[in-house]
Amino acid sequence: MNRREFVTTVPGALAAEAARSARAAGAEPGGSILAPTPPMGWMSWNQFGPKVSEALVREMADTLVATGMRQAGYRYLCIDDLWQGGRGRDGRLYPDPKRFPSGIRALADYVHARGLALGIYSDAADRTCAEQPGSLGHEETDARTFAEWGVDYLKYDYCFAPEDPETAIRRYGAMASALRRTGRAIVFSVCEWGPREPWLWAAKVGAQLWRTTWDVRDIWEGEYNDSHLGILDIVDRQVGLAGYAGPGHWNDPDMLVVGLRGKGVYTSPKGWPPPTDTEYRSQMSLWCLMASPLHATNDLRTMDEVTRGILMNAEVIAVDQDPLGRQAVRAIKDRAMEVWKKPLAEGHVALGLLNRGPGAAEYSLKWSDIALAPAWKVRDLWAGRDLGVVRGTLVAQVGSHETRMLRLSPAS
Ligand code: GLA
Repeated sequence: MNRREFVTTVPGALAAEAARSARAAGAEPGGSILAPTPPMGWMSWNQFGPKVSEALVREMADTLVATGMRQAGYRYLCIDDLWQGGRGRDGRLYPDPKRFPSGIRALADYVHARGLALGIYSDAADRTCAEQPGSLGHEETDARTFAEWGVDYLKYDYCFAPEDPETAIRRYGAMASALRRTGRAIVFSVCEWGPREPWLWAAKVGAQLWRTTWDVRDIWEGEYNDSHLGILDIVDRQVGLAGYAGPGHWNDPDMLVVGLRGKGVYTSPKGWPPPTDTEYRSQMSLWCLMASPLHATNDLRTMDEVTRGILMNAEVIAVDQDPLGRQAVRAIKDRAMEVWKKPLAEGHVALGLLNRGPGAAEYSLKWSDIALAPAWKVRDLWAGRDLGVVRGTLVAQVGSHETRMLRLSPAS
């Protein structure tokens, strides 16, 4: 993998050129037609890695329907790396015939028949991260193949590619343009992990979302194996990025680890404790506040009630999917306490009160400290309870590693 960390500034002229070429290929600047709210779905990587198969994806599709997750908004079933069988003499990618004997087209049909959408994965180099054939130099053919298969979403990785931003902008631009030329609406997800600051150029080249960090791990806090990050470490790296998100263009802090419970093939590091229920609930809260794409990655077929409750709380999901499309900013950092603030449509506001400390805390939040009007109707979203009108100062108990999620509506 090609993952040395470096900081760089993307040359403006290059981003502008990429934007021009995307427009020439028919893309709207900002890709605003697709993904008006952050995409939601399920991805195969974290829990299943190499065990992805058509049987598994079909079962997940059935489970999305049966559990009510589809109804809750989870729509894209995404096949991550290791689906590939190879590249044929005709130059086209084909899936592993053992794990995908009916082919991707049949799988897309199955998924579409259930009101769901299909995602697939490739890489902007000659190989993917798991050393499968990549799409570099085959962009037109691969985009056409994906479109013919009925694919609705492409995650495009960046292993084995050069480190400079110019090449990344060019390679992502080439695939974005190829996708547009197919005429099929395919959500395009940039996955270069952040070093080339994709928030500055990915929307301009025609992507709807871009990863902002290295891969998430099934842990609350810590950096594992050089670059894999816990939930809190990822959260810290979103500070300063809120201004880049909006309808059709989203920061992607990587997948949900909710409910993995230490069982992720690559994602649950041996010897590290998996997050607690409270910590998983905090990931969901913070991801929704940050208007993040919500891709569950656990085994939906066997999830417990707590996991189901976390993934399917309609009021929490509504914060993520709010049509205004604003990403929360960290409005207060006061030792272990943080206040995250997300403006919602119609003058509502979502707040997250995160306690990173080892013990429960009582926190007093003056509305004026976060530039809010003096009185609000407050609803506790996880408790599903109205707290009445709060004037001046809110006093909240916040457990260790908990995120209290509140929805404020104007008090008339
Ligand atoms: C990279 C990506 C992951 C996953 C793997 C697949 O690490 O960041 O999300 O797609 O590749 O090999």
